[in-house]
Amino acid sequence: MKLLGKPRSPTAAFLPLCLISLKLLQPGHSHLYNNRYAGDKVIRLIPNTKDEAYAVKKMYQQLKVDLWQPSSIFYVSAGTVTDVHIPQNGSRALLAFLRETSIQYKILIEDLQKALEKGSSLQTQRRRRSASGYNYEVYHSLEEIQNWMRHLNKTHPGLIHVFSIGKSYEGRSLFVLKLGRRSQAHKRAVWIDCGIHAREWVGPAFCQWFVKEALLTYRSDPTMRKMLNHLYFYIMPVFNVDGYHFSWTNDRFWRKTRSRNSRFRCHGVDANRNWRVKWCDEGASMHPCDDTYCGPFPESEPEVKAVANFLRKHKKHIRAYLSFHSYAQMLLYPYSYKYATIPNFSCVESAAHKAVNALRSVHGVQYRYGPASSTLYVSSGSSMDWAYKTGIPYTFAFELRDTGHFGFLLPETLIKPTCTETMLAVKNITMHLLKKCP
Ligand SMILES: *[C@@H]1O[C@H](CO)[C@@H](O)[C@H](O)[C@H]1NC(C)=O
Ligand SMILES: *[C@@H]1O[C@H](CO)[C@@H](O)[C@H](O)[C@H]1NC(C)=O
Ligand SMILES: *[C@@H]1O[C@H](CO)[C@@H](O)[C@H](O)[C@H]1NC(C)=O
Ligand SMILES: *[C@@H]1O[C@H](CO)[C@@H](O)[C@H](O)[C@H]1NC(C)=O
Ligand SMILES: [Zn+2]
Repeated sequence: MKLLGKPRSPTAAFLPLCLISLKLLQPGHSHLYNNRYAGDKVIRLIPNTKDEAYAVKKMYQQLKVDLWQPSSIFYVSAGTVTDVHIPQNGSRALLAFLRETSIQYKILIEDLQKALEKGSSLQTQRRRRSASGYNYEVYHSLEEIQNWMRHLNKTHPGLIHVFSIGKSYEGRSLFVLKLGRRSQAHKRAVWIDCGIHAREWVGPAFCQWFVKEALLTYRSDPTMRKMLNHLYFYIMPVFNVDGYHFSWTNDRFWRKTRSRNSRFRCHGVDANRNWRVKWCDEGASMHPCDDTYCGPFPESEPEVKAVANFLRKHKKHIRAYLSFHSYAQMLLYPYSYKYATIPNFSCVESAAHKAVNALRSVHGVQYRYGPASSTLYVSSGSSMDWAYKTGIPYTFAFELRDTGHFGFLLPETLIKPTCTETMLAVKNITMHLLKKCP
């Protein structure tokens, strides 16, 4: 169990990796990501009337902002909170506009480059301190996560089997970790994916945490033992591998995949708008340069196609689909694409209600829960709706911490509390599955 504790005996296999990623983060004395975010700000705007919402949308279009929350300008309406990342050369214009109008606003991050570099230097210190053993309280690069999976595959053959379900657009393996005690009988299963959206780094950190906790507590915790004895978990720690890698090397705030488009220079498709369920309708964009671009056709992205094929093939056994995003602090269930109540609403609703209560019991953090359409916004072509329509009865999307203070730059010190509380929610949902829903 060398990978599980923190300051245990040095794990030779991981030392060189730590050094590689230190280099990646500190290329000489140059700035992270070529200093591209110097002077950029993250601002929260709250348009209160229709006119204000209209003016804000126009401003966003002109200034080419990067929307953090919600993920597209179609969702900007009176009363919605919007967090935008605004480039340095646009922030002066935006602030002048805001002072002229009476639109409510708050600067969340004064200088994004400084915020990033502060986070990264803390990360370097934390990595140095825990150079021995695997540290689950830092963000890991794709290479580190894949090596971690291969390592666990070797060291825990009784509980873990790692396999690939295909290749990404750029040719990377799409690894899935199957967790659970091997058994002759066909067991029911839970699918968990993290990192559909590249910049939401706390997602992959949670997927790793889940596996660590499972291995650490399998013997001591009766609930975990029951889960691993009665179920298989298919865990995909990084769904959008190309995008995640790109968010480490080029653009920390990249969201989409990295596929090329024949007619436009923009790369990537929103891997959570590319599923064959009301594809490219409300809440998805047909424009390749938008962050919610639905792609040229459903399942155009090899990552989406690989997962869809896997779920189609195993849908008889898979009882739950859980997808991890950030940030908003919400637990969402179908539908995303329309305002309507799902069949068996009460079973799903009560599972969500109990899960958020369990989550809150740890650190008092409040999650909203409900159908995605009315709780977050309407979006078509999402993985959760697709999984539900395909016949998986319990499908949920988590939007993890926070609610905008750090946004996508959730500090590593918050990985542990975030994952600890989320763990309880996931265990609670899983135990719910093992009982018959009334
Ligand atoms: C800001 O700079 C970028 C690239 O340097 C440019 O594409 C954009 O048009 C500029 N925006 C404004 C408002 O000047
Ligand atoms: C995991 O281990 C099994 C055998 O123990 C092996 O067949 C398989 O290729 C391994 N998976 C990966 C991704 O290396
Ligand atoms: C699930 O959470 C509820 C509280 O919301 C609690 O009463 C119940 O015991 C939890 N179940 C498990 C298995 O954790
Ligand atoms: C509703 O729940 C029942 C019992 O668990 C199940 O047989 C049925 O397939 C479910 N229907 C849907 C639409 O999920
Ligand atoms: Zn997301």
